Amino acid sequence: MSSKTILITGGAGFIGSHLADTLISEGARVIVVDNLVTGSMKNIEHLLDNPNFKFIEHNISEKLHIEEDLDWVMHFASPASPIDFQKLAIPILKVGSLGTHNALGIAKEKKASFFLASTSEVYGDPLVHPQPETYWGNVNPIGPRGVYDESKRFAESITMAYHREHDIDVRIIRIFNTYGPRMRADDGRVVCNFINQALKGQDLTVYGEGKQSRSFQYVTDLVDGIVKLMDVKYHLPVNLGNPYEFTVYELAEKVLAMTKSKSNIAYEPLPEDDPKRRRPDITRAVELLNWEPKIAVEEGLEKTVKYFAEKLELEVV
Ligand SMILES: NC(=O)c1ccc[n+]([C@@H]2O[C@H](COP(=O)([O-])OP(=O)(O)OC[C@H]3O[C@@H](n4cnc5c(N)ncnc54)[C@H](O)[C@@H]3O)[C@@H](O)[C@H]2O)c1
Repeated sequence: MSSKTILITGGAGFIGSHLADTLISEGARVIVVDNLVTGSMKNIEHLLDNPNFKFIEHNISEKLHIEEDLDWVMHFASPASPIDFQKLAIPILKVGSLGTHNALGIAKEKKASFFLASTSEVYGDPLVHPQPETYWGNVNPIGPRGVYDESKRFAESITMAYHREHDIDVRIIRIFNTYGPRMRADDGRVVCNFINQALKGQDLTVYGEGKQSRSFQYVTDLVDGIVKLMDVKYHLPVNLGNPYEFTVYELAEKVLAMTKSKSNIAYEPLPEDDPKRRRPDITRAVELLNWEPKIAVEEGLEKTVKYFAEKLELEVV
């Protein structure tokens, strides 16, 4: 990675900031472009004095000119949590469409490689389990989640069009549920919801009966897969996720045990179009990258609980 200059859109967010840390530690120069809509300067403040780091506050859905030569444009900008789907519906659609177009334009101008952070949400409420990359998905385009799902489906489509038409060296990953330090406490995703509710002694909100299954990947496993894929010339989508599957109810129980919380579980109606099952088929990543997730859910949860506990200045034994 040394001597490479890498632009990360969304680099002040949860995943983007971990990626920036890893790339800088491997010797790259990193330019983060972020409008801070869901990200935070706190995630990158430790990098601000590093000569190999630069921050540009900008909305990538608007055109951007970069002076420096670039080796990679890594497009991670997008609000990604379910509460954002309603609050930020149009910015989500814009960053997946106009933002991806602008980011691809920068890659084309700089003759840089392009890396797209797509999502398992492109599979919608899947009818195939687990989901391989060859599955085309089951998405409701006009439902409340459609703004995110369709913006990412468009982003994949335009990325492949730039690859075919302009011969841009592209990578596409479909990220499955990822968690870890630097997630927003209030972002509505189930892991940080449960941890924060448990730490504050509030009831854990379980939607439906909690029987919907999820698989959760710890963020360092994801970053490891991303860095490996940068080195492999493979242009079709690659799932990156942890296939170890359990129910939302089981997760609630794990979090309650780990935080020694006395909270109860509160059941609320299932949101519209909430996927009932989601599990990656990671055969492609295993064969292509010799990669698989290493961090067990207990270990990852422990690190995440510690992070949020420190944030809340609570003592968790
Ligand atoms: N966390 C997950 O489980 C998950 C799963 C699938 C896909 N992803 C994808 O990974 C990427 C990062 O997600 P995250 O979980 O780190 O979310 P995040 O909200 O923490 O990070 C997204 C970052 O993008 C920035 N951003 C959003 N719109 C922007 C715009 N128009 N211009 C510039 N910056 C903008 C935000 O301010 C934030 O810093 C997203 O593209 C998301 O869709 C995440």
